[in-house]
Amino acid sequence: MLLTEIIKIDEKNIENPGELAKLRKAAALIKNGGLVVFPTETVYGLGANAFDESAVKKIYEAKGRPSDNPLIVHVAEPEDIYKYAEVPEIAGKIIKKFLPAPLTLVLKKTGSELNAACKLDTVAIRCPKNKTARKLIELAGVPIAAPSTNLSGKPSHTNAEHVIKDLNGRVALIICGENCEIGLESTVISFNADNSINILRSGYITREMLSEFKIRENIREISESSESPRSPGIKYTHYSPDAPLYILSGNDEKIVDFLNKNKTKKTGFLCFDEFLKYFDAHENIISIISIGSKYNLKEQAKNLFDALNKFNELDVDIIYSVEPERVDIGEAIYNRLIKAAGGKIIEL
Ligand code: TXA
Ligand code: MG
Repeated sequence: MLLTEIIKIDEKNIENPGELAKLRKAAALIKNGGLVVFPTETVYGLGANAFDESAVKKIYEAKGRPSDNPLIVHVAEPEDIYKYAEVPEIAGKIIKKFLPAPLTLVLKKTGSELNAACKLDTVAIRCPKNKTARKLIELAGVPIAAPSTNLSGKPSHTNAEHVIKDLNGRVALIICGENCEIGLESTVISFNADNSINILRSGYITREMLSEFKIRENIREISESSESPRSPGIKYTHYSPDAPLYILSGNDEKIVDFLNKNKTKKTGFLCFDEFLKYFDAHENIISIISIGSKYNLKEQAKNLFDALNKFNELDVDIIYSVEPERVDIGEAIYNRLIKAAGGKIIEL
């Protein structure tokens, strides 16, 4: 058990001397091999000096992460990517067009010291949009390796409160900032010799936004099984709340009907605002959390992990969820939810 220092930062005023002093302290800890949690625009990250092999190893211990799952390296400026990786022409165009952004590029490493705990010859690298994160990296003077803060297999964190619950005692410092603006991890892409790209993980930077580039289809997402996407199998459960989660596939009426027939006091329902009206009369009978309007994908993305973490605080033994529409950022929302459900869908 470590003694974890928890500090609050005013993300709107990070250039103020008081806030800068806090970030300097965090940067010094990183430089000296410590683990520091910091906010990003996607989810909270668990950071260590990417050049320090033993510091990076501590991340794996703190999260209980399998050692063969490599980490994303964060840099303060888009140009810094060129210091650490080979950038093919198409990647250069993407860097210029999007970065800083919630977009991670998998590139060939140019030095072996980066993310040294990872033996691959590639590195996943990103320049976040969040100013607190960028300032921290700048002050640390080293790239920061940082996965999402969730304990392995559990839902990622989009607010400081949930981070503290899971990581207090496992890291040196937690920087508590605002709730993450986007709420889903960055889009991860890689590059092929023919100038096409692969979307390895969907995210806020969508297929549509990348459509001017040639996207190779049928690339399996990172750690997805060979089975059809409808049944990835329990083995690949990720982002999971404590209670088993099932996605209900069917129209609103069938979903409401199913819940009315199957609910108990310990049933959780993850839904859109449009469902709330059906359950007014059943107050306190099931635990309902809405992630926003069914028409507002950004709101859904922002609230999804928060909702999954909140169910862990409620006395539920089963959670049913609505099925997000797989368009635009909906692709990423669906991806996280189906993994959280371990592929369990009930067709109504
Ligand atoms: O938004 C984000 O990307 C957040 C914040 C904290 O920046 N970070 C994040 O990191 O989601 P993590 O470790 O939870 O996810 C990294 C993903 C994993 O799926 C990993 O397998 C993949 O990126 N990855 C890392 N290095 C890779 C590489 N060299 N080749 C292919 N995939 C890689
Ligand atoms: Mg993660």
